[in-house]
Amino acid sequence: MAQDLSTIPNNVNLSGDRRLQRALEQWQPNFLSWWHEVGPEGFQGHHVYLRTAVSVEAGGWAHFDYVKMPDYRWGIFLEPFQEGRTIGFGDVEGQPVWSEVPGEHRNSLRRIIVTQADTEPASVEQQRLLGKTAPSLYDLRNIFQVNVEEGRHLWAMVYLLHRYFGRDGREEAEELLARRSGNGDKPRILNAFNEPIDDWLSFYFFAMFTDRDGKYQLSALAESGFDPLARTTRFMLTEEAHHLFVGEMGVDRVVQRSAQLMAEGKDPRKEAAVPLDIVQKYLNLWFTLSLDLFGGEVSSNAADFFAAGLKGRFRERESYQEHKALGQTYRLEMPAGGGFLEEEVPLRNAMNEVLRDEYVKDCQRAVDRWNKTLARCGASGLTLFLPHRRFHRGVGPFAGCKTDPQGRLIAEAEWAANESKWLPTAEDRAYVRSLMHGVYAPGKVASWVAAPAKGVDGLPVDFEYVKPPSA
Ligand SMILES: [Fe+2]
Ligand SMILES: [Fe+2]
Repeated sequence: MAQDLSTIPNNVNLSGDRRLQRALEQWQPNFLSWWHEVGPEGFQGHHVYLRTAVSVEAGGWAHFDYVKMPDYRWGIFLEPFQEGRTIGFGDVEGQPVWSEVPGEHRNSLRRIIVTQADTEPASVEQQRLLGKTAPSLYDLRNIFQVNVEEGRHLWAMVYLLHRYFGRDGREEAEELLARRSGNGDKPRILNAFNEPIDDWLSFYFFAMFTDRDGKYQLSALAESGFDPLARTTRFMLTEEAHHLFVGEMGVDRVVQRSAQLMAEGKDPRKEAAVPLDIVQKYLNLWFTLSLDLFGGEVSSNAADFFAAGLKGRFRERESYQEHKALGQTYRLEMPAGGGFLEEEVPLRNAMNEVLRDEYVKDCQRAVDRWNKTLARCGASGLTLFLPHRRFHRGVGPFAGCKTDPQGRLIAEAEWAANESKWLPTAEDRAYVRSLMHGVYAPGKVASWVAAPAKGVDGLPVDFEYVKPPSA
């Protein structure tokens, strides 16, 4: 049943804008049918211990209770308006932020918002079958938390489209419910969001690497001169942190389990766990797919977005002294004459790469954590690593270059001979899928992953995080 719109938690004075309210009232039933059609399969009647944002105040945005997913209150929240805020970068540095869309930036902003928005429902579609093979009730609850919040992020973006982009915005909002992840005719916009996620190792790596791209994109938009976008994305980031935690700690628990088995002299493969070489191949795949999401290394669009004050750098205000990025260069390696050549490009044109640098640092931090876990569990000598950012790229100047994971150019034949060592094969995927069985008894965990160290919201690990409909 469609909820009464007046019950939708919001801090945008929804009831004070009749036109907007009508537009959202028309969109809402379509959202709910999308959710039922391609949202989490099964479990729609289950009681899930979920966090709901009910306000943006420190204590209010994380309200925990049992909720049936279709009854989740997808709210619309923007960080509170700050009087006198100015744009922090680009040619417009120091000018007041815009509370409406400037005509000359309308198309760019719409494109930026639609591209971000499209990833939200896409990831829900990608993950829709995973509830059936959840390794524990804790994990089951976490994936549903991620799913409903991606739904809320879609609401957040659709609010911007409806409120600020008139009829075009309403049409884009419909299209967001019409595209489908992996669909040949109407695919999602970005490639990583069309990849299948049919096992939990993929899900953990997706939440670790692909959702983390989202963190950096949202952070860049949190600097935007278009104030409603900046305020929306800042609030989204508070929820996103949990998704990244689910991914990073999920991989950590997989690694922990395999390391413990190896320390006992056992072979993970014989114990229904994931051998580390398969973990590394999944890492290679999802890291590189996610690197592509930042766009080409040299980009005039990125330069224009920065110059215009639409999209800044990661923590633009805190991390940089100088915010125009003019008269500076960035050194990049580019493919040239069968090798690589360092090139200096204007800094503004390298903004995708500047953001990717921050992302790679953050990913390396997580890999270091996993390696500590390996060592701590007695599997020292074994380590995971991030492949070189030239490896397995589909976007930018390295797309089509064949390199090994260390970034060394190799011949086609060497690639063909080694691809199965570097990226998941059909057999690897089949093996990982063979481990996936739903484990739904409170406190029990599947064979291939360690139990979490802590539960959710201060509750014990063996809490019944998801209850069947009759309970
Ligand atoms: Fe999201
Ligand atoms: Fe997310």
